[in-house]
Amino acid sequence: MSPRFSLTTPLYYVNALPHIGSAYTTIAADVVARFYRLQGYHVRFITGTDEHGQKIERTAQQRGLTPQDHCDEIAAGFEALWQQLHITYDRFSRTTSPRHHAIVREFFQRVWDNGDIYLGQQQGWYCVECEEFKEERELLEGQRCPIHVNRPVEWRDERNYFFRLSTYQDALLAYYATHPDFVQPRSRRNEVLSFIEQGLQDFSISRVNLDWGFPVPTDPEHTLYVWFDALLGYVTALLEPEQEPTLANALSTWWPINLHIIGKDILRFHAISWPAMLMSAGLPLPEQIFVHGFLTKNGQKMGKSLGNTLDPVALVQQYSADAVRYYFMKEVEFGRDGDFSETRFVNILNADLANDIGNLLNRTLKMAWKYTGGEVPAIDIHAIAPEHPLRQLAEHVSQSYGTAYRRLAFHEVCQLALGLARSGNKFLDEEAPWKRAKAGEMNAVAEILYCVLEAVRLLAYVLAPIIPHLSEAIYQQLGYSVNFNGSVIDSALLADSQAHWGVLPAGQPLSQPAPVFQKLSVLAPVPSDPN
Ligand code: MSP
Repeated sequence: MSPRFSLTTPLYYVNALPHIGSAYTTIAADVVARFYRLQGYHVRFITGTDEHGQKIERTAQQRGLTPQDHCDEIAAGFEALWQQLHITYDRFSRTTSPRHHAIVREFFQRVWDNGDIYLGQQQGWYCVECEEFKEERELLEGQRCPIHVNRPVEWRDERNYFFRLSTYQDALLAYYATHPDFVQPRSRRNEVLSFIEQGLQDFSISRVNLDWGFPVPTDPEHTLYVWFDALLGYVTALLEPEQEPTLANALSTWWPINLHIIGKDILRFHAISWPAMLMSAGLPLPEQIFVHGFLTKNGQKMGKSLGNTLDPVALVQQYSADAVRYYFMKEVEFGRDGDFSETRFVNILNADLANDIGNLLNRTLKMAWKYTGGEVPAIDIHAIAPEHPLRQLAEHVSQSYGTAYRRLAFHEVCQLALGLARSGNKFLDEEAPWKRAKAGEMNAVAEILYCVLEAVRLLAYVLAPIIPHLSEAIYQQLGYSVNFNGSVIDSALLADSQAHWGVLPAGQPLSQPAPVFQKLSVLAPVPSDPN
């Protein structure tokens, strides 16, 4: 039986089509899913859309559509972008689905039966964009939300049902103490801890004057707060299509989730409210929450409500999915903020993918056609000394890349792979096989070319979760006929057989050299998001 790994992206609001921020989280999650599949895991990768609440209701109204029609249209836009970005999700969870409703009802009942829900009066400043009450001290001048700086918050004073979050303060602190890696990176964990230590307040889980949502099961005059329902979308997604929508079924195989990937703006919901809700329902908690930073433009979060985002569809169409995936995984350390610049985007891709990797493969293949008959040089792999610079480095890469992926340090994976490419280029320049060939030293030529081709193969393998199409193209040029792009992995591609030195079979026929990554230029700047 293969080990299992389940992971989620947030379920995205459907107030507008996806922007580059949602694409960023989803690419990262896809990289993790692909990595674990190549390690031989059975993976359940969940994404989807969060479709209830005031924000969506208002957007649909403004567009003159029913909320459901609006949601259907935008959810389809998300799925279309994920196809273009080659996202290999296993489940697309929509919170308006009837099956989800059944799960929410059952979960609510458990929390209700546990005595953690009561009716009270809610007063406070509400940010509709965040769908969250804000503390007065958090607000910017003019009662504006610190995240959605161009939108004033709204004053609310209404009867709401509350969830007894305060009851879980000690249990949460105890959990954090015994699970030091529950929230990553560490700075985010500290942020959560200091928030909990300041004292937790109960939060309201229902709204009045809002129709677009599930009715509170015990009092249909109230509508369930969008976040209470949304977080449970992760659970609904675990159901098999033929299963009855019950909690027991949903939780039977894949719970607890191994990894929630989220942005820093939704940390408290995932690291405080969600664990407390699960504790109340008597369920085990997810294994880990990883919190990434924001993509920014001139230092400000790119977002739909600020209108300063990039159109991901245009970016992919202009530059290809692998280019977009590589740039964000390499250039933005996962966990930190990162600014986007199109010039930098083009420069990095040309330097890394077209030059360092693409050219290395191309020039080496040409030599293999010239000197070793278009075949992987037939050398004795075991005769390559352990101190051989490429072998040494390759062995280091194969030992360390898995840890980097498991820590979601994608930029480190890219650096490891690039290090191999750069050393390969340097090695070729220093060893000058073309001179050795002139001198008739054909054994040396064969060994040099083998080592470089093998280094390229290994780096393509290591990068496959990030740039699957490019890795596949490299493998094909090296004479393999493989598919890195299905969600079912060919066993020949598993890390056990590929992730080490000396795998390229001597004598394997090579393909004709052709550039695997075309140089890019900024034709016309990619337009900002049309939303
Ligand atoms: N619907 C909630 C999540 C519910 S999960 C049960 C939500 N949706 S969202 O569409 O507003 O945001 C989803 C994710 O996109 C968040 O993790 C958020 O951090 C991320 N991003 C939105 N803008 C972003 C950037 N500019 N940069 C990086 N990620 C950003 O919140």
